[in-house]
Amino acid sequence: MKGIVFTEFLEMVEQKFGYKMVDDLLISSELPSKGVYTAVGTYSHKEMFSLVTQLSERSGIDASLLLDTFGSHIFEHFTSRYNHFFSSCTSAFEFLSSIEEHIHVEVQKLYPDAELPEFIISRPGDDVLSMIYKSERKLSFLALGLIKSTLAYYGETAEITMKDLSGDGHTVEFILTKV
Ligand code: HEM
Repeated sequence: MKGIVFTEFLEMVEQKFGYKMVDDLLISSELPSKGVYTAVGTYSHKEMFSLVTQLSERSGIDASLLLDTFGSHIFEHFTSRYNHFFSSCTSAFEFLSSIEEHIHVEVQKLYPDAELPEFIISRPGDDVLSMIYKSERKLSFLALGLIKSTLAYYGETAEITMKDLSGDGHTVEFILTKV
């Protein structure tokens, strides 16, 4: 997992919980990197699980909600750093449909060792978008936060349902229905 994900995560922790929490997490989580992350470096995604688990235990907030919130936080970074992806789309459905075949493809070119999820996209109806998320890293709640932020960014509203198709978080279907 790229260092930028860790630096953004720790920035969110500092903003929402204060610097002491960052310090406590770095001391108590199992981190082969010792918590020293550079934006372009690559670290085991297990370090992210360790940090999220520790933050959940210390804050009493579910790990799923923490990941959802982190999705909104890192979305802000994406909108400023990668604005061209957003400006080339005119709607949330168009943008979300382009992640698999365009955005993450470009991300992989920039960072060949990035570990990205797979999305299978379909449009069961004009107002409905289905996104099947697949990843060994089981970060569907991070995807949820990113999807909600995308809708808000384009000023749209949709109901989102999430169905765990594999039962272990590896394959999760999001169905977005415009309201
Ligand atoms: C301009 C927009 C976006 C950019 C630049 C971007 C880029 C990235 C980058 C750099 C990573 C980290 C890869 C690694 O650490 O190895 C990542 C991971 C991820 N991205 Fe995107 N992304 C974008 C939009 C989205 C959106 C809208 C979603 C949700 C629908 C999404 C879902 C994910 C998820 C869930 C991961 C975590 C890895 C995993 O689950 O396997 N991304 N993305």
